[in-house]
Amino acid sequence: MNCRICSGYTRTIIDLGISPPANSLLDNTRQSVCSYPLVLEYCNSCCNIQLRDCLDSRDLYKNYLYVTPDSKMLNEHYEYLTRFLLSNKYINSDSKVLEIGSNIGLYLNHIRPFVKEILGVDPAENIAKLANAKGVHTICEFFSKELAMDLRNSKGKVDTIIARHCFAHNASPHDLLKGVKVLLDEGGVFVIENAYALNTIENNEFDQIYHEHMFYYSIQSMTKVLEMNGFKLIDILISLVHGGSIVFIAKHISSKNSISNSLRTHLQYEKEKLNMNTLARFSSNAFTLKEDLLKTINAINQRKETIYSYGATAKGNTLLNFLGLDNSIIKYCVDSTSIKQGKYLPGSKIKIINEDFKDVERPDYFLLTAWNYKDEIITKVRNKGNKDSAFIVPFPTLHII
Ligand code: TYD
Ligand code: ZN
Repeated sequence: MNCRICSGYTRTIIDLGISPPANSLLDNTRQSVCSYPLVLEYCNSCCNIQLRDCLDSRDLYKNYLYVTPDSKMLNEHYEYLTRFLLSNKYINSDSKVLEIGSNIGLYLNHIRPFVKEILGVDPAENIAKLANAKGVHTICEFFSKELAMDLRNSKGKVDTIIARHCFAHNASPHDLLKGVKVLLDEGGVFVIENAYALNTIENNEFDQIYHEHMFYYSIQSMTKVLEMNGFKLIDILISLVHGGSIVFIAKHISSKNSISNSLRTHLQYEKEKLNMNTLARFSSNAFTLKEDLLKTINAINQRKETIYSYGATAKGNTLLNFLGLDNSIIKYCVDSTSIKQGKYLPGSKIKIINEDFKDVERPDYFLLTAWNYKDEIITKVRNKGNKDSAFIVPFPTLHII
């Protein structure tokens, strides 16, 4: 019960029971998979929110099935982020950029025209292979101080290090920051993007809790972990992706940059909003949603109408397992990722199918487990001629479209 940022005492916020690692999809329904606790803790000293029980990253990422989807919303987000980085002069045409957890290289490919050099680092063998095949040079390794020293000695320092939706996937942010410290040029920027803890809490997104998400960063906890490692937070960018995300801009502590107005304002707001009361409400809301959603689903089931889930997401697994739903109630899960199709969700053992519906009936309802792509997915389904299946959207409040 200690904070992995400041070692302070932590208290439990919410206990979702046990769940299998969310991306450990099964090849068949006979395959067994271990489940581990999903318990969230809060540190009052640095406002850190963390997962109590962390699994070994090497097991989580060796053969990884998360492939960044080709999404209109994500492409728009890449543009928004790149414009922000360019207009604030955090990157320019001379920048040497390294991205940690670059997956198949979609963001690196996006910023390639605006910078001098790009390089990806990703630990998943199958994913790094896909990135390299697409022409985004990607080193298949965990980012560490050792790798950072090797790269500095062989290629020199870089001006920009980016870690999008992976910084919180690391049980020891201190180790990762030690690597950034040695590889980042004196005037360089470290760009971290994550789901924003305040949005997760305020929007009741308890499904964001799964084993890959070892931390739920706020401005306050990020400031603390950066300062402990010789960096300072100078700016932030708030965005709507993944249910509310935040981009942190950090520089070496010696930097002369002052703190942006947006950072100052949001920090003030966060200090007013993020406290034990909000966290307690978050926990009770999760159990209320569980009851409401089960009532809705049971009623559909009693009417003998069919439900599939949409999106073989990690967060969807948390939701399904927390609710105790399985393939007797949700027949299929639809997902666009080809390497997920044909496999089964861990725990619920729901079969993943593609978005074509060639061999299966359309359901009466979709439980939208990729609710962060709500507009895009519903438009896609309707444009394909399916005007009938209704969508059960669980977040931020349960509703049916
Ligand atoms: P994401 O929300 O990033 O999930 P996670 O909770 O795992 O971080 O992943 C979205 C999933 O939804 C991904 O598996 C691809 C799928 N998807 C579709 O099936 N159709 C779509 O149109 C989109 C945008 C995503
Ligand atoms: Zn702490």
